Amino acid sequence: MATVLSVSGSPSATSRTARLLRHLDERLIAQGHEVIALDVRTLPAEALLGADFAHPAIVRAAALFEQADGVVVGTPVYKAAYSGLLKSLLDLLPQYALAGKTVLPLATGGTTAHVLAIDYALRPVLASMGPAHITPGWFTLDRDITVGEDGTLTVAPGSAEALAQVTDQFSAALGERTTLLAAAG
Ligand SMILES: Cc1cc2nc3c(=O)[nH]c(=O)nc-3n(C[C@H](O)[C@H](O)[C@H](O)COP(=O)(O)O)c2cc1C
Repeated sequence: MATVLSVSGSPSATSRTARLLRHLDERLIAQGHEVIALDVRTLPAEALLGADFAHPAIVRAAALFEQADGVVVGTPVYKAAYSGLLKSLLDLLPQYALAGKTVLPLATGGTTAHVLAIDYALRPVLASMGPAHITPGWFTLDRDITVGEDGTLTVAPGSAEALAQVTDQFSAALGERTTLLAAAG
């Protein structure tokens, strides 16, 4: 079993990105992983914006990264890139906070014009933090994510299949890595 940190970088209180991540968390849990959810918006703004590396909430968040075998990083696309909120946390983590970890990058956005934002914007930032492996990511159009009155999340069929596939690839990569590390003692 691997420990997965599932990080949403949306500042929105009704975030589709966060809901999508929580939905995918269930799939990872069903595959035997322990999942810890982190919504960056719940961290203190003064610590994020004031670069307060020593703030207890930032230290706790950094510890969650350190303990994780895998990290799901989800962001809304803002101005053709990741959210500033997500970056404000990543900037406060150690340089190689993703060392040895398997990472799944995900984004939601309003236009397919920015479908490559994961690859030209998010992936290089994550790669600079030293992960063992960044598995294929996925961009989901916001209109493909519907939240019912009872809070049930529905993802449009094509996107749902693609998300299941990238989540399973991430899960498999995590499994391979934890087996390798266990064998190495
Ligand atoms: C300030 C702002 C900027 C945005 N810029 C883009 C953009 O450049 N490209 C895009 O595809 N969508 C853009 N969007 C749409 C959001 O990425 C999209 O609605 C996303 O699913 C919102 O996720 P959330 O509900 O988790 O916050 C923008 C939305 C906001 C509020």
